[in-house]
Amino acid sequence: MTIPILTIDGPSGAGKGTVSRLVAQQLGWRYLDSGAIYRALALELTEKDFLHAEIAEIVEVALAMDLAFECGEEQSVMLNGQDITDLLGLESTGNNASKIATIPEVRAALLQKQRNFKQANGLVADGRDMGTVVFPEAKYKVFLTASAFTRAERRYKQLKLKGIDANLSKITADIQERDQRDRERQFAPLIPAPDAVYIDSSNLSIQAVVEEVLSLVR
Ligand code: DC
Repeated sequence: MTIPILTIDGPSGAGKGTVSRLVAQQLGWRYLDSGAIYRALALELTEKDFLHAEIAEIVEVALAMDLAFECGEEQSVMLNGQDITDLLGLESTGNNASKIATIPEVRAALLQKQRNFKQANGLVADGRDMGTVVFPEAKYKVFLTASAFTRAERRYKQLKLKGIDANLSKITADIQERDQRDRERQFAPLIPAPDAVYIDSSNLSIQAVVEEVLSLVR
């Protein structure tokens, strides 16, 4: 039996995580947050002071990571038995993840970890290269985007809600820098798969995007 796969790629802050989680819940499918895998590696390398180590050493750390995703109301992520959920959301973790994600050997080392999620009823996979590289065979593909301003504003509000001091122009600049790195890297850059459906969420509610994505699958 072929396992149905829905890929949702796009830049940071477009709403991929929230939409993917809700769609996966509704369909009873598994959810892969591939960004969390890159983020977990960035954290592990930071902890070991290996962010600027030789590529072979970074790959060794990537292959040895013991990652577990626990799905409750919110997803929690365990790395080598430790709950790293809160650390994953830091801006610095996202920026470091984007930097190590430019290394082709690192991407290759993380490929199987991502493909292992293809199990059971179906899979919703969220990232940058889900529809192009990791699951090119996916039956359903979405490229979800929003203007840089909208994405920065959403991030700003999220941080404020958490009581974290935030600066909108700094967030906008960070988002633009990360987007540019993710789009322009040589290997598996952020680009829509040729067969992806393009959705701009700038003026849509989460629920409206979820409905649009579900209608593709149903
Ligand atoms: O989706 P995210 O913001 O959690 O991802 C963090 C970084 O990880 C992102 O800026 C680039 C990298 N990434 C990637 O290169 N490929 C993926 N499939 C997912 C994330």
